[in-house]
Amino acid sequence: MQDYDDEPVQRPKWLAWVIIIGMILVVLGLLNLGVRLYIGTPSDQATAAKTEAVAQQRPELVQGQRLVQGSDCMRCHGVDRKFVGPSLAEVAQRYQGRSDAPEYLAGKIREGSVGVWGRTIMPRHPQVTPEQAVLMAQWILALPAPQP
Ligand code: HEC
Repeated sequence: MQDYDDEPVQRPKWLAWVIIIGMILVVLGLLNLGVRLYIGTPSDQATAAKTEAVAQQRPELVQGQRLVQGSDCMRCHGVDRKFVGPSLAEVAQRYQGRSDAPEYLAGKIREGSVGVWGRTIMPRHPQVTPEQAVLMAQWILALPAPQP
């Protein structure tokens, strides 16, 4: 007759260590995630710093900031980070030297755009009035240049 239960299964010692080290790594990972969620990513910090800098130096542009943040812009644009569209700081940098930049960008905001930054289309925003679009463009243009 066979009895499998007689002898305790011998698990190798290293297995215990692998499990312990694995658990430590998981805990460290969660801590790291928690800290990041709490203090924000570098990109969040850069966004906050840029937004704050403009609000300090050009308080008259805060209205434009509110319009951008209140519209759907941030679904595709980051202040400091590009995802669907270019980062707004990059846009500011590109049009620094252009005297008609506010009107040009205001037109792009209302009419949409494609082909300047890539092949992704920016939709039109007919609900944004021409005056609002200029305010948005002026705020975007005041953003400090992106970090290299
Ligand atoms: C669905 C995604 C999407 C949304 C929403 C969106 N954009 Fe864009 N935006 C883009 C893309 C993609 C481009 C690049 C277009 C191109 O290459 O011509 C762009 C380009 C731009 C540019 C640069 C245009 C140029 O000629 O260089 C500005 C300024 C801009 N967006 C502002 C805004 C503002 C302000 C809003 C909110 C009212 C907004 N965007 C909403 C995707 C979006």
